[in-house]
Amino acid sequence: MASLISLTLSTLLFSTLVLHVTSNHIQDSFYHCLALNSKASPIPFSSAFFTPNISSFSTLLQSSAQNLRCLAPSVPKPQLIFTPLHESHIQAAVVCAKDLGIQIRIRSGGHDYEGLSYVSEMEPPFVVVDLSRLRSVSVDIEDNTAWVQAGATIGEVYYRIAEKSKVHAFPAGLCTSLGVGGHITGGAYGPMMRKYGLGADNVVDAKVIDANGKILDRKAMGEDYFWALRGGGGGSFGIIVSWKIKLVPIPENVTVFTVPKTLEQNGTKILHRWQQVAADKLDEDLFIRVIIQAVNSSKKGQRTVQHLYQALFLGSTDRLFKVMGEGFPELGLQAKDCMEMSWIKSVLYIAGYPGTTPIEVLLEGKSSFKNYFKAKSDFVKEPIPESGLEGIWTRFYEEESPLMIWNPYGGKMSEIPESEIPFPHRKGVLYKIQYVTTWSDAAKDSVPRHEDWMRKLYNYMSSYASKFPRTAYVNYRDLDLGMNKYGNASFIEASSWGNRYFKDNFNRLVRIKTKVDPENFFSHEQSIPLLPEPNYEQLL
Ligand SMILES: Cc1cc2nc3c(=O)[nH]c(=O)nc-3n(C[C@H](O)[C@H](O)[C@H](O)COP(=O)(O)OP(=O)(O)OC[C@H]3O[C@@H](n4cnc5c(N)ncnc54)[C@H](O)[C@@H]3O)c2cc1C
Ligand SMILES: *[C@@H]1O[C@H](CO)[C@@H](O)[C@H](O)[C@H]1NC(C)=O
Ligand SMILES: *[C@@H]1O[C@H](CO)[C@@H](O)[C@H](O)[C@H]1NC(C)=O
Ligand SMILES: *[C@@H]1O[C@H](CO)[C@@H](O)[C@H](O)[C@H]1NC(C)=O
Ligand SMILES: *[C@@H]1O[C@H](CO)[C@@H](O)[C@H](O)[C@H]1NC(C)=O
Ligand SMILES: *[C@@H]1O[C@H](CO)[C@@H](O)[C@H](O)[C@H]1NC(C)=O
Repeated sequence: MASLISLTLSTLLFSTLVLHVTSNHIQDSFYHCLALNSKASPIPFSSAFFTPNISSFSTLLQSSAQNLRCLAPSVPKPQLIFTPLHESHIQAAVVCAKDLGIQIRIRSGGHDYEGLSYVSEMEPPFVVVDLSRLRSVSVDIEDNTAWVQAGATIGEVYYRIAEKSKVHAFPAGLCTSLGVGGHITGGAYGPMMRKYGLGADNVVDAKVIDANGKILDRKAMGEDYFWALRGGGGGSFGIIVSWKIKLVPIPENVTVFTVPKTLEQNGTKILHRWQQVAADKLDEDLFIRVIIQAVNSSKKGQRTVQHLYQALFLGSTDRLFKVMGEGFPELGLQAKDCMEMSWIKSVLYIAGYPGTTPIEVLLEGKSSFKNYFKAKSDFVKEPIPESGLEGIWTRFYEEESPLMIWNPYGGKMSEIPESEIPFPHRKGVLYKIQYVTTWSDAAKDSVPRHEDWMRKLYNYMSSYASKFPRTAYVNYRDLDLGMNKYGNASFIEASSWGNRYFKDNFNRLVRIKTKVDPENFFSHEQSIPLLPEPNYEQLL
C-alpha cells in the first residue's frame, strides 16, 4: 500500500516536473525564435512577452476577457501572452508558432462568447497573441475612410471619427469595448444597420497576416480571401492587422429614446405589434431594439417581464413623431421620452453610460459588461404569436437574470444579397434574438444549472425560430452548436455550425480556407474546416 502511494506520488511529481520543464522549454524556445525572426523589426519585442511566472500575467490575461466562465481556474491557461508592438512581431509569432508546433489564439477585444481568443481545450500547448497594443486609428475625412488597427476598440474608432467630423460615422456594434479585430470578422451590427448594413459591409481594404507570416492587403490577397475575412468569423483565415473602413453620412443631431413596458402595460400586445412593424414597415432611419428582462413587479414579492424599447433615429424628433405615428403608434411615444444629441453622444447613450459621461471615456476602452454568462442566438422570420410569447415569460421566471435582446432587420439588410459577404442573414429576417443568462458566483455547479436553463429555452423557441437550418450569429459563438476539440473538424462535422452561421456561404468559406491555409494552422473548436483530401485537386 505504502509503496503504491509513493509510486503514485513520484509519478505525480515526475509529471508535474515534466510539465514544468516543457512549459519553460516552450517559453524559452518561443523567445529565441522571436529574437531570430524579428531582427528587422524597428521596435524590440522584449516588453511584449509575458510568462505565467510574472505577476502581470494574470492581470493581462483577465484584462479584456469578458466571460468570467472562461477564466475559471479549471479552464486551461496559455503558456504565455505575447502583445506585439509592431506588425513584424505578429509575423514572427506566426512563423515561430508554426516552427515549434504550438497553437496560437488571437485576441483583439476579448469579447468572444466562449472565450476562444484566450482559452483552448485543444491538444498542443497554446500562446495568446494579444493585439491590444496595436490600436492606432487614422481617419481621412476627405477620402471618407479610416485605417483602424485590430486592437482598437470600436468606441475609439467612433471617437476618432467624431473628433474630425460631426456628420461622419461608422455602422458597427453598440458595445463600445468590442475589439475591431474580432468584431468585424463576424459581421458587426449596430443601430445603423437598417440604414447602412453591417460593419463588415463597409470594409474596403484590410491587412492580414497569413499562415506563412506574410502581410497581405486586398490587392495581394485577392477577392476570395478578402471576401472570407468580412464575416467568415475570427481565427480561421489569418490575423487581421488592420481594416480600412468606409465612413457613412449622418445628420448633425440624431434622436434617441428608451420606453419601458411591463406585461401589466399591455407589454405582450405591444411586442407582438413590434414584430410586425420594426423590420418591414418602419423607416430605415429608425432602429428600435427591445431589451427584455425579468424585473420585480410593483406588487410586492412578484416578478414581471419588462420590455425596454430603445431607439436611435437618424433625424429630428419632429420627423420621428411622424414615423412613429404612422408605423407604431401602439408604443405611445411621447416628447418627454426623446432626446436630440450628436451621434457620438448617442453612442454613449445606447452603450448605457449616464448622460453626464464625457465622450473621452471611449478612449479608455473599458467594458461595462464582465460576467459569468452563456448566450445563444436565433433569427426570426414570422412574428411569434402572443401565446408563444407567454411561454417565454413563464420560462423567464425560472431564472435569476434572464435577458433577451431583439434586434430589428429590414431596410438595407434586406437589400444586400446573401452571398455578398459570408454573413448571410438578410432578406426575410424580421429580427434577431440574443438570449443571455448571467450569474455572479464562481460556484462550479452554477455553470450547468444556468446552461441547462438556457438550453431549455432554446428548445422551446425551436418552433418560432428560422428552420433548415436554424441559423445563428457567428459573433455570438455558441459551442452547443457543435465543436471539434482538436480543431480538425471534417467538412461534414463542421457543417453543423457552419451552415447555421453562414448558410450557403459555408461551402465557399471551406474552399477559400483550403486554398489559403492548407495546413489548418489557424484553427479552433469551431474554425472553418478544410475540404476532404480527394477534392483538393478540383480546386487547385
Ligand atoms: C458585451 C458584448 C456586447 C456585444 N455587442 C455586440 C454588438 O453590438 N454587435 C455585434 O455585432 N456584436 C456584439 N458582440 C459580439 C462581438 O462582436 C464578438 O464577440 C466579437 O467576436 C468580439 O471581437 P473581439 O475582438 O472583442 O473579441 P476576441 O475575443 O478578441 O475575438 C473574437 C474571435 O475573433 C478572433 N480574432 C480576434 N482578433 C482577431 C484578428 N485580429 N484577426 C483574426 N481573428 C481575430 C478570436 O481568435 C476569436 O475567435 C458583443 C459581445 C459582448 C461580449
Ligand atoms: C520566467 O520564466 C521564463 C521562461 O522559462 C524565464 O526565462 C524567466 O527567467 C522567468 N522569470 C522569472 C522572473 O522567474
Ligand atoms: C443640434 O443640437 C444642438 C444642441 O441641441 C443645437 O445647438 C444645434 O443647432 C443642432 N443642430 C442642428 C443642425 O439641428
Ligand atoms: C391595453 O389595451 C387595451 C386595448 O387593446 C386598452 O383598452 C387598454 O387601455 C390598454 N391598457 C394599457 C395599460 O395600456
Ligand atoms: C427583487 O426582489 C427580491 C426579493 O423579492 C430582492 O431580493 C431583490 O433585491 C429585488 N431586486 C431589485 C432589483 O429590486
Ligand atoms: C484530429 O486530431 C486528433 C488528435 O490529434 C486525431 O486523433 C484525429 O485522428 C484527427 N482527426 C482527423 C479527421 O484528422
